[in-house]
Amino acid sequence: MNFHDVTIGIIGATGAVGSVALELLENQGHPPEKIVPIASPRSEGKKLKYFSQDLIVRKIEKELLDNLDAIIISATSQISEKWAPIAVKSGVVVIDDGSVFRMNSSVPLVVPEVNGQDVEWHTGIISTPNCTTTPLVMVLDALRKLSSIKRVNVSTYQAVSGTGSRARTELINQTRSMIFDQDYRIDVYPKPIGFNIFPHVDDFLENGYTKEEMKMVNESRKILHDDQIRISVTCVRVPVHISHSESLQIEFTDNVNLKEAIKLLSDYSGITVMDDTENDIYPTPLDSAGQDDVFVGRIRKDIAIDNAISLWLSCDNLRKGASLNAIQILEELIKRDRMGLNEL
Ligand code: A2P
Repeated sequence: MNFHDVTIGIIGATGAVGSVALELLENQGHPPEKIVPIASPRSEGKKLKYFSQDLIVRKIEKELLDNLDAIIISATSQISEKWAPIAVKSGVVVIDDGSVFRMNSSVPLVVPEVNGQDVEWHTGIISTPNCTTTPLVMVLDALRKLSSIKRVNVSTYQAVSGTGSRARTELINQTRSMIFDQDYRIDVYPKPIGFNIFPHVDDFLENGYTKEEMKMVNESRKILHDDQIRISVTCVRVPVHISHSESLQIEFTDNVNLKEAIKLLSDYSGITVMDDTENDIYPTPLDSAGQDDVFVGRIRKDIAIDNAISLWLSCDNLRKGASLNAIQILEELIKRDRMGLNEL
């Protein structure tokens, strides 16, 4: 089977991630008749431009699944929970962008550059990681060739598009109101996001971390196949539209060479090193938005911890953080001839 032969349903095609998935498939020349955009009943019948054609948005129905080979779900957890098993029963491979199945032991959690081989053991559903986990594990996978990684400290700077389209509107509306000293509404987040940042992404847990922070810890261990790696995260929401950034401090078992670290990152598929501080070159969200790669800069020996490297990264959360990774998982399945469910 070739990639262009695969009929792909996109649940959430009108949303922040789904619309980028459509754009990526269009850029790859995927045939319009092989795409079925799906959204809530509110959007049924809506037209989405794809090449010069209009794709008609459908609502989810079991009959719709009969004509699909694969489905990318980027809607809500409830939609994933309900529809992924139904799709699998209908013989459709599911790539789920939500968090509900990620830590399920029968569901591979895959970043193709890191653990593409894990698609081999799928039983119908494959999860794509949290948008902050994906760039993190790519950098850690590149650098663990230097020496084993003992400990990682991460702070994230997360764009509002990670929350969805409503959050983008909230950022614009609050910013506009604040500039003109007008009253503003707070609907999506617990705090204003216009001209503000807050260390609160997803719900707080009993251990003092948030769900988002613990997702990064647990998902990274699963993808890297490393239960020993110690990771501590603080997730921060920032008034940026697209692209999550992260500040990392990575401690190794042995002393490591900075030049070798930079070379490993430069050679890694899907990573672009953008590091020339003399010329103010380092990645920002505006640099990485709309790009496929994870951009890394400010790579330096840490002065507070022995055997440690600090660095900064920025990655389009809607592309490699979500839709691009989902499409690459599909490509990996085809490459490994694992699209079919008959051998399960
Ligand atoms: P819709 O546009 O019809 O509401 P975002 O992450 O940007 O908020 O987008 C969420 C996506 O999930 C949208 O495409 C949205 O469709 C879709 N969605 C929400 N509820 C459902 C549902 N019940 N069935 C299918 N898709 C849904």
